[in-house]
Amino acid sequence: MRTSPMPIVVLISGNGSNLQALIDSQARGELPVEIRVVISNRSDAYGLVRARKAGIETIVLSHRDFPSREAYDAKLMELIDARQPELVVLAGFMRILSERFVNHYLGRLINIHPSLLPAFRGLDTHERALRAGVKEHGCSVHFVTPELDAGPIIIQARVPVLDGDTPSTLAARVQTQEHRIYPLAVKWIAEGRIQMRDDGVYKDGIRQESPPVLEADTVATES
Ligand code: GRF
Repeated sequence: MRTSPMPIVVLISGNGSNLQALIDSQARGELPVEIRVVISNRSDAYGLVRARKAGIETIVLSHRDFPSREAYDAKLMELIDARQPELVVLAGFMRILSERFVNHYLGRLINIHPSLLPAFRGLDTHERALRAGVKEHGCSVHFVTPELDAGPIIIQARVPVLDGDTPSTLAARVQTQEHRIYPLAVKWIAEGRIQMRDDGVYKDGIRQESPPVLEADTVATES
């Protein structure tokens, strides 16, 4: 059992509601982490305001100032590594990461994706789910590997798709669940309960055949 909070770095591009969920969970004493820095590739990301309000260091690293993805990612790695995090948390960071970056943090890099992976990798997941006519949708927390949105899944949450849903009503329903499962996944990692190995995700030393899936209407009693 660790005695000090796990140092983490959070990368964002936008609203930062998932960052807020981590901050709130930490503030309630439920999440043993220390957010060392929040880095955004966009200066107008509202998540930067959220971080500053919580007294967390912020950095804006604009991709426009770099000639290539590799050059941007190299600088990003330098900034991250200077803070010595044990985990790098992608929370709406809207950039494809280079293979070098992903491999550097392999097993220490997680993302939240707004679909029940492996369904709907990539962008516009809510629109695509509605167009496909699925009855259930959701979100997934996964380790990041070089193949986009294909890394081993730690936890998912499922929501119903309702008659009359629009991409935004569906997104809101999914986001409520994102704010539940992301802090939970980070907590499990901070407690040393989750590891990524070559053959998948291990929880409490046991290989998970399939990830746990929380249902939207269950009370948050999971630990
Ligand atoms: C979330 O929907 C997340 O699943 C996706 O990007 C969005 C970020 O939202 N990866 P926010 O910035 O955390 O509010």
